[in-house]
Amino acid sequence: MESLLITPGAVDYSVIPDVPADTFVAPLVRPAHLGEDWLEPQQRAYTSEEHAIWDDLFAQQMQVLPGRAASSFMAGLDRLDLGRGGVPDFGSLSEELRAITGWTVVPVPMLIPDHVFFYHLANRRFPAGNFIRSREEFHYISEPDVFHDVFGHVPMLTDPVYADYMQEYGRAGWKALAYNRLKALSALYWYTVEFGLIREADGIKAYGAGILSGPLEAVFSVEAQSPNRIHLEVDRVMRTDYVISDMQPTYFVIDSFEELYRKTVERNFDDLYRGLTPGFTYSNQAVLGGDKVYHLGTQEYANRGGKGSGARPV
Ligand SMILES: [Fe+2]
Repeated sequence: MESLLITPGAVDYSVIPDVPADTFVAPLVRPAHLGEDWLEPQQRAYTSEEHAIWDDLFAQQMQVLPGRAASSFMAGLDRLDLGRGGVPDFGSLSEELRAITGWTVVPVPMLIPDHVFFYHLANRRFPAGNFIRSREEFHYISEPDVFHDVFGHVPMLTDPVYADYMQEYGRAGWKALAYNRLKALSALYWYTVEFGLIREADGIKAYGAGILSGPLEAVFSVEAQSPNRIHLEVDRVMRTDYVISDMQPTYFVIDSFEELYRKTVERNFDDLYRGLTPGFTYSNQAVLGGDKVYHLGTQEYANRGGKGSGARPV
């Protein structure tokens, strides 16, 4: 249907995209005090205990990330000085980040709808959760809090190519909405922005925020025998199912952020979406004939039942 095609220059990314009537979006209810952009008017104040939780999470991650996190992530942590003590102030953090790549960090109270998220990314604004987990949820939270969002995501936004990739991802949302293929686009986000790995001179490292904001997966993703590590191909990833609340059975690896950016912007997503079924084609453990495999996982952890079974990540 020609009317669904979005041609370059035909889209105004400065306004929130419409959601076509037949497009599935998560049923989220906007809190009454927020405008249509879902942003909190200002970052909330944190108690001294909440600042202490940030510091303890930061210290925990610094025990495991050196040598396992991508060098651009470690450089970003340093440049933004995210370990200066307590939950960072979004205003000064945004000023520093804006001077580096033109991005800012904006507070949101909860998960926000996909189309609003796309709108902010397309305008180089990263929506970050305004709340922080409690001690009881120290090791796992189901909703992204300020530690996941700011510690996990924001350092990578100091990398100029990665920063451009994130903006292109936001722009890609308009087309995914028009084709009703949000699930496929979210798989790309999942396997890159949240759980991506990159090859560096001294081995495979993690750059995904879902990996970098927790202690177990930072080790599991790059060192464990259980998961597959496969070179990233955009079409393949967008057809692949993923795990939401446990460690991934498969990780996808890039050579560089230039490669990731190029593979994404050069792919004709109209053609891709036309060829996709609404659901996923490949299981999250699948290894395909055309895959470039760096490590063929034993899948021992996933096959024992993963986290729910008490299996040890190996
Ligand atoms: Fe995230």
